[in-house]
Amino acid sequence: MTSPAVSQARSSTDEPVLLDVSGLTVTFGGVTAVGGLSFDVHEGEVLSVIGPNGAGKTSAFNCITGFYKPTAGRIRFAGADITGKRPALIAARGVARTFQNLRLFGELSVLDNVRAGMHVRIRQNAFDAVLHTPRYRRSEQAATDEANRWLDFVGAAGNRGAEVRNLPYGEQRRVEIARALAREPKMLLLDEPAAGLNHGEKAALLDLLRRISGLGTAVVLIEHDMGLVMEVSERIVVLNFGKEIADGTPEQIRADPAVIEAYLGSDDAEAEQEAERIAGSSGAQAHEDPTADAASQEEDR
Ligand SMILES: Nc1ncnc2c1ncn2[C@@H]1O[C@H](COP(=O)(O)OP(=O)(O)O)[C@@H](O)[C@H]1O
Ligand SMILES: [Mg+2]
Repeated sequence: MTSPAVSQARSSTDEPVLLDVSGLTVTFGGVTAVGGLSFDVHEGEVLSVIGPNGAGKTSAFNCITGFYKPTAGRIRFAGADITGKRPALIAARGVARTFQNLRLFGELSVLDNVRAGMHVRIRQNAFDAVLHTPRYRRSEQAATDEANRWLDFVGAAGNRGAEVRNLPYGEQRRVEIARALAREPKMLLLDEPAAGLNHGEKAALLDLLRRISGLGTAVVLIEHDMGLVMEVSERIVVLNFGKEIADGTPEQIRADPAVIEAYLGSDDAEAEQEAERIAGSSGAQAHEDPTADAASQEEDR
C-alpha cells in the first residue's frame, strides 16, 4: 500500500543529485559522532533522516552546513565541493537550516529576524546605506516586503512587530523557518522541527513542509515524530551509531528489520515506542519538552 503523501508527490529520486555526502566522519576526542556516512539528496526531494538519540544526525547537519569540520569524507552540493567550508559560504550556495534548539534574535522583532535571513542575498552598497539614497530605501522596502511574504507563507505574519522572545514556542519555530526560506535556498535542513509542537501545530507543519516542497526546494528533515516522517517523506535514511543502516521509501523503512532492531536495541523506552510507531500506527505523539535536549545544543563558530 502506498501512503497518500507519496502517491501525490512527484518522484524526486529521478532528479539530479543535489547533495552528495560520502564517507562523512566526525570524531570528538574518542567519540565517533559520524562514522563513514554516505547518502544523497536529489533536487526537490523530501528526505527524512531518522535514528536514535546520539546517532549523529545533528552532527551530520552541522558538517553539511559548515558548523563542524568533518574529520574525513566529502560533501558536494550543487556540483561544488563544500567539505569544510565556512557556514556563510555554504549558505550563499543555497543551503539553509533551522536548529534543534531555536536560534533567533529574541530581542528583535519577528520581521527583523526574517530580514536578517536575507542578508546573505541582498547586497547593499555602503555609500547608499550611509546616505539613505532612494536606491537604499527601495532595497530596504523590498526586503521588508519579501520578509512579510515569507511570514505569510509560514503563517506567522500576525505578530510581525512583536519581539520574538514573547511569542509562543510553536510560532518561534515558524519564524525560524521563515528566516531560512528568505534565503531562497535550494535545500532546507530542518533539525527536529516538530519537537515541542502540539497536535494542531504539527498538522500545520506538515502542510507547510508540503508547500515548501511545492516551491521546488529540497527538504531534509531530522525528525522523531514518525507520523510526520511517514506522511511527508519521499525517502528515509536511517542512522545508527553514525552510519546509515537503511535507505528507502517509508514503506520499505517500516518493514526493515534492521531499523526496528536499531530502535529496540537501544535501552531507551522512548526509542521502543518509536520502533512501534515506525512499524505500525502513525498516530500523534505526546507533547515533547523542547528544553529536554539542551545538552546536544550545537556550538557556535
Ligand atoms: N560538539 C560536540 N562535542 C562533543 N561531542 C559531540 C558534539 N556534538 C555531538 N557530539 C556527540 O556526538 C554524538 C552524536 O550526537 P548528535 O549528532 O547530536 O546526535 P543526534 O542528533 O542523532 O541525536 C553524541 O555522542 C554526542 O554526544
Ligand atoms: Mg540531534
